[in-house]
Amino acid sequence: MTKQSSSRTSWQKVGKWYNDVVGEHGHYYHQTLILPNVLKLLKFSKNEKYSLLDLACGQGVLSRSIPENVSYVGIDASQDLIKNAKGYAYSDRIQFVQADVTAKLPLQSKNFTHATLILALQNIEHPDALFKNVTQHLVQGAPFIIVLNHPCFRIPRQSSWGVDAEQKIQYRRINQYMSSLKIPIQAHPGKGSKSAQTWSFHHPLSSYTLWLSQAGFAIDRIEEWCSNKTSEGSAAKMENRSREEIPLFMTIVARKI
Ligand SMILES: C[S@@+](CC[C@H](N)C(=O)[O-])C[C@H]1O[C@@H](n2cnc3c(N)ncnc32)[C@H](O)[C@@H]1O
Repeated sequence: MTKQSSSRTSWQKVGKWYNDVVGEHGHYYHQTLILPNVLKLLKFSKNEKYSLLDLACGQGVLSRSIPENVSYVGIDASQDLIKNAKGYAYSDRIQFVQADVTAKLPLQSKNFTHATLILALQNIEHPDALFKNVTQHLVQGAPFIIVLNHPCFRIPRQSSWGVDAEQKIQYRRINQYMSSLKIPIQAHPGKGSKSAQTWSFHHPLSSYTLWLSQAGFAIDRIEEWCSNKTSEGSAAKMENRSREEIPLFMTIVARKI
């Protein structure tokens, strides 16, 4: 992966906004859904030492939730987000590195016991290269937890909510799924063409599972997490039902074999 490609997908240009949104403890879904569930899946027990490699760590929100017996290295392409992350870091066991996760990683250790990739797979241009990189730094059997926007239901510009008034249901419309897509996302839609932009990449689930397997991972399980928000007002029943049926996030629990 070239330097140019990582700088295109880095969130450097929206770093200040993203750091404000996430803050010290995470945004709403980090706090109420993602971090508690990821910590459960990481299964750190109290009496052992672990080392966690957090890919595309942003400003390092996960590092501030892990127990003290876990050492941590977070990597992200954005210089400013890494600077923000270092500003929060409170201990020598927490380290941050600015690098492209799809290029050879600037890390000596081949012994990480765990890896994570939180809300970032959909922002990485070449996931196959990322998966091949990660596996080189993990011990055999290490879990690799990947949380992504659900690839079947959240395809930017190609999926949306619709309402069937007769049946009183809100449904999810999917226009395109099997094709890989590269989609520009405006960080501040209100600013129109002046808005800073990030990139989203869509791939069908079968591509992700193929690339994981080619990189030497087995998939232990896949979880699907729904929004825990609730609606009020006249459409509440319909909206709450569709929210419980259409998951927001997919979590792949892979393991290095
Ligand atoms: C939505 S943010 C998620 C950050 C963090 N994991 C979190 O949950 O807050 C996606 C991150 O992917 C990073 N990123 C995109 N392409 C990258 C690449 N090639 N190498 C490293 N980081 C990358 C961006 O800079 C951004 O910080």
